[in-house]
Amino acid sequence: MFGRLDLGIDLGTANTLVYVRGKGIVINEPSVIAINGDNNEIIKVGAEAKKMIGKTPSFIQAIRPLKDGVIADYEVALAMLMYFISRAQESFSFFRPRVVIGVPVGVTEVESRALLRAGKEAGAKKVFLIEEPMATALGAGLPVEDPQGNMVIDIGGGTTETAVISLGSIVTWSSIRIAGDEFDEAIIQYVREVYRVTIGVRTSERIKIEIGNVYPLKEFDELQTDIVGIELSSGLPKKLALTGGEIREAIRPTAMQIVEAVKSTLEKTPPELVADITEKGIIIAGGGSLLRGMAQLISKETGIEVHGAEDPMMCVAKGAGMVLDKMDILARLKSVE
Ligand SMILES: Nc1ncnc2c1ncn2[C@@H]1O[C@H](COP(=O)(O)OP(=O)(O)OP(=O)(O)O)[C@@H](O)[C@H]1O
Ligand SMILES: [Mg+2]
Repeated sequence: MFGRLDLGIDLGTANTLVYVRGKGIVINEPSVIAINGDNNEIIKVGAEAKKMIGKTPSFIQAIRPLKDGVIADYEVALAMLMYFISRAQESFSFFRPRVVIGVPVGVTEVESRALLRAGKEAGAKKVFLIEEPMATALGAGLPVEDPQGNMVIDIGGGTTETAVISLGSIVTWSSIRIAGDEFDEAIIQYVREVYRVTIGVRTSERIKIEIGNVYPLKEFDELQTDIVGIELSSGLPKKLALTGGEIREAIRPTAMQIVEAVKSTLEKTPPELVADITEKGIIIAGGGSLLRGMAQLISKETGIEVHGAEDPMMCVAKGAGMVLDKMDILARLKSVE
């Protein structure tokens, strides 16, 4: 495609995705950047940098510049954004792109301005910010412009956002800083308390993905995985076999906090919209929605059917790219030229 390039970007706490209109997702990498602390030189970005977490010599830092869905380290986030935008642009166009970036609902003015500025500094012609649940809903193919209730839950790495959308706007929402990372932390805590063994975040994330679950099913109880940690008493390596049943106990309290956020959003929602949602069901997306039993748990607790979105980790980037065709919604977004 030669000519104007439009990008939808999900600058997530855990993963950054870039969607090019007409092409699809062209970048899908962990939001991690490895920097040489001596001279601030970028060593690796994305998957290669993530592999270095917890394994770097002292002069290298592997940094996640986003925390809880927003920029925590501006300089590093900007460097990462510039790298990804230039990589996405490389193959398609010489023109400066229009860029739509997803942000958590309820971001502060300061956080919004930081992102708009970062987008401009990274070379965009125009930068728009879209609230992530709106992007999620668009990306999941929901009829967000219709006068009917659409409910989405996006469980990411740093934030869980729940929103009800009707007539192209968010009607009720909640955003909590509890999501995938919090499950990893709960597993680290559990292993330390029960086995007196220390493990790192890469290991706890692997445990979560391999055997994590939040709904009591026999098939989940029987899941099993082997790990290696460091025994607190001796400081020596220790092998452990963990089961799905015990990991569920470890992470269920975290899952219940997500359920409470969903319930609180429903309680604030006008009855006509709740009626629509009850009829159509709730859509869940984000990497955290892949946790075994998550849909069943939310469904049981709310009494409403819950469906997983197609490509749940790509909805935000896709929806951010798609909004450029939706003039009514686009006109209401924060932007900078
Ligand atoms: N199969 C899986 N089971 C459970 N969790 C998973 C699975 N795959 C990915 N995750 C988790 O999903 C999270 C990342 O999801 P996602 O990419 O949607 O987050 P993000 O958009 O970067 O974060 P945020 O939206 O909070 O800024 C991580 O915590 C990761 O461990
Ligand atoms: Mg996200």
